[in-house]
Amino acid sequence: MVKLNSKKRVAVFISGRGSNLKNLNIFSKKRNSKFIISLVISNKKNAKGIVYAKKNKILCKIIDDIKNFEKKALLLIKLNKINLLCLAGFMKVLSSYFIKNVGIPIINIHPSLLPKFKGLNTHQRAIDAREEYSGCTVHYVNNKLDSGKIILQKKVKILKKDTAKSLANKIQKEEHKIFSKALNSIC
Ligand code: GRF
Repeated sequence: MVKLNSKKRVAVFISGRGSNLKNLNIFSKKRNSKFIISLVISNKKNAKGIVYAKKNKILCKIIDDIKNFEKKALLLIKLNKINLLCLAGFMKVLSSYFIKNVGIPIINIHPSLLPKFKGLNTHQRAIDAREEYSGCTVHYVNNKLDSGKIILQKKVKILKKDTAKSLANKIQKEEHKIFSKALNSIC
C-alpha cells in the first residue's frame, strides 16, 4: 500500500467529456496507485468532465479566459503543489513559455500510434491511409505538437468495417488502461 502523503499530486487539464480523467481518478483509489488527482482545470466552461470532478470532490477550476489561461493555470499548479500534469482531451496547445516554467513533467494521451497521425482527426486519417493498426500513445509534452518522448503505446487492429467512430470507441477503451498505467509508472 502506498502512503497517502507519499503520493504524487497530479493536475489534469481537460476540455471535454473527461472519460480519461474519470479513469485516472478511479485508478488513483487503488492500493498500488502512486498518485492522487489534486486539481482539474478546464478551459471550457461546459466541459462534461467538470461535473465528474465536482461530484467526486476534486478541486476544479474553469479558466475560459484564453488570454490569461496559462498565467492562471501556472499559479494554481504552484499553489496546489502539483508534481505532475496530465493533458486528457485538452484541446489547447501549451506555449513553450508554459512548458519551460511549469517545472514539472507534462504528459498527454493521443489517439494514434505516434509518430503517425499527430494532430486532429486521427481515426479517419488512419482509415484513409489503409493502416492495419492504429492505437493510442502516452507521451511527454514538449514544444512540438505530439512529439515528446513516448512512454507507452497500445495497438488496436483496424477492421474493414471500422468507421472513425467505432475505431475511436475501441481506442478509447485502451486509452483508459494505458494512461493510468503510464502515469503510475513515472510517479
Ligand atoms: C481522447 O480520445 C484523447 O486521446 C484525446 O482526446 C480525447 C479525450 O477524451 N486527446 P475524454 O475527454 O478523456 O473522454
